[in-house]
Amino acid sequence: MKKVLLITGPAGDAQGWGDLSVTENVCQAIKESGYDAQIAFVNTMEEFNDAIENLSYDIVWSCLYYISDKSETIGMSNGEWLADIFDEKKIPYIGPDAKCMKALIHKTATHDILDTKGVAVPYHFQIASGDDLPDVAFPAFVKPSYESRSVGINDDSVVNTTEELARQIQYIHNTFDQPALVEEYLPGQEYTVLMLGNGEHQEYIPGRVEVDPELFGKYPILKSTMRGVGVTKIKPTTKMTQQANDLCRQAMEALNCLDHVRADMRLDAFGNLKIIEVNGIPGLKPLKSWSPQMFTMQHPSEQGPMEDYRKLINHIVTSAMARSGLI
Ligand SMILES: Nc1ncnc2c1ncn2[C@@H]1O[C@H](COP(=O)(O)OP(=O)(O)OP(=O)(O)O)[C@@H](O)[C@H]1O
Ligand SMILES: [Mg+2]
Repeated sequence: MKKVLLITGPAGDAQGWGDLSVTENVCQAIKESGYDAQIAFVNTMEEFNDAIENLSYDIVWSCLYYISDKSETIGMSNGEWLADIFDEKKIPYIGPDAKCMKALIHKTATHDILDTKGVAVPYHFQIASGDDLPDVAFPAFVKPSYESRSVGINDDSVVNTTEELARQIQYIHNTFDQPALVEEYLPGQEYTVLMLGNGEHQEYIPGRVEVDPELFGKYPILKSTMRGVGVTKIKPTTKMTQQANDLCRQAMEALNCLDHVRADMRLDAFGNLKIIEVNGIPGLKPLKSWSPQMFTMQHPSEQGPMEDYRKLINHIVTSAMARSGLI
């Protein structure tokens, strides 16, 4: 029986699909859907190297871009990307390749690649500490360059004056010690599209992000306080379905995404969809994360959402094994 080695660590929730309990759910789902699986919880590069050298497995699935003890924020790697090591050692792995993963964790890099290839993204400026303020049209949106789970996003993320822009950029530098990303504020409906599998195993599932409007503050944006608490629901799209799928497909092709990747997007002031960001390790918390919600929305089974969750995990693993020539 083919075996998956799941890699996680203290940074699993910030960087990857969730904390250790989520990885345990993924492991269980793999075992209940026809493959074997084992978790390696690694705190250091030494423990990581030990796991990949000494455990037996056919393919790796990492919940981490790189090893870190930071459990609240992602930040940037010191250069040791796990996917680079898998490539070096010719270890098959689930998820996008190293080049794609490095682009996805870096929101400006993602925007730049998409922009070059003609995929719609907001105007954007990466502002490091000491850089001049960008000359932007207001309102603009200010966020960290390398975070997820809406870390660093609050009501002040939408800025309307040069003073507000300067203050929010400073907040990002001081709080997260990383460049700020200043981009066009996209005021319209938010969508997310899941790309699942590759080739003949591939499907796209579009969803509309719905939140009780009373929970929004001044702006209809997903603030950090609204994430991981069950208030964001994914509903079937009623409009923009084809446009959302097409935009996601263009982004996935431009970035060379594989297996399980999610593109977040919103409508701009003129009603055009633009990519906000592309998630290389989407959340996999059973029934709560967007991928399981979207899979159940598209493929509800009589046995209920936990069975759908097993099918989602099986779909990702099977598709990755097939492209790696393991099955
Ligand atoms: N340019 C923008 N215009 C309007 N809202 C935005 C913009 N960028 C981000 N947002 C809002 O902030 C939220 C978080 O932004 P984004 O998706 O870039 O960050 P994230 O923290 O990486 O999210 P995820 O948890 O999906 O990884 C979005 O879901 C959206 O509501
Ligand atoms: Mg997002």
